[in-house]
Amino acid sequence: KRIILVGPPGCGKGTQSPIIKEEHCLCHLATGDMLRAAVKAQTPLGKQAKEAMDAGKLVSDDLVVGIIEEAIKRPSCSKGFILDGFPRTVVQAEKLDAMLAKDAAKVDKVLDFEVPDQVLVERVTGRWIHPDSGRSYHTKFAPPKVPGKDDITGEPLIQRKDDNAETLKSRLEAFHKQTQPVIDYYANKGVVSKLHAEKPPPDVTSEIQKALGS
Ligand code: AP5
Ligand code: ZN
Repeated sequence: KRIILVGPPGCGKGTQSPIIKEEHCLCHLATGDMLRAAVKAQTPLGKQAKEAMDAGKLVSDDLVVGIIEEAIKRPSCSKGFILDGFPRTVVQAEKLDAMLAKDAAKVDKVLDFEVPDQVLVERVTGRWIHPDSGRSYHTKFAPPKVPGKDDITGEPLIQRKDDNAETLKSRLEAFHKQTQPVIDYYANKGVVSKLHAEKPPPDVTSEIQKALGS
């Protein structure tokens, strides 16, 4: 299966991905996680992406398309993949379709995580992540077993640089202007399932399972 997760910042893409990944044996490709790793390692790609990310703007299409093109060829992705945070512009969606068409493949399902903007402020400002795995926690909604520590590795949790109310405004603006059209693009192909992603995480998981027929 080839599944796309799309929705505004803090809608729950990163929270639900590991569950879908396990159930369907897919690889999880999150462009935001990959870019943050590149920034941290100060690679040329990371240096190019940092400024836009810190400002809550999208990085260039060519840069992320290059990352995804390389990633979906990995053997671990041969059974299919979950794209978390890609495509985020119609240009990215068209390039993805063209990549898949070379193997006579296509996107099977687009999960549209719908959450009102006002709910996202609390989600984003209360989030703590484990940088190496991308696992997300929330001080109120999903607290770690030991405060400030990752449940699995025990390593320290950090807050993302773009997780503040001010940068969230730019991220939401980018979502509404540039990413909302991606949902329309796939809706025209009849592959979109809308999720009530403002509900608690287990309810969202059930909606996803229904949408994926699992
Ligand atoms: P990216 O990392 O993709 O950020 P995003 O889209 O803003 O999404 P988030 O990671 O903030 O949210 P999420 O949906 O994963 O939420 P989570 O599950 O963690 O991108 C970052 C930047 O990279 C972009 O701004 C851009 O610069 C660049 N970039 C990335 N991809 C790009 C692309 N394709 N093109 C161009 N630029 C790109 O949940 C959030 C919090 O809420 C957590 O604390 C969680 O515990 C909690 N939570 C989750 N679900 C629920 C629930 N149902 N109820 C209550 N709390 C919940
Ligand atoms: Zn995420």
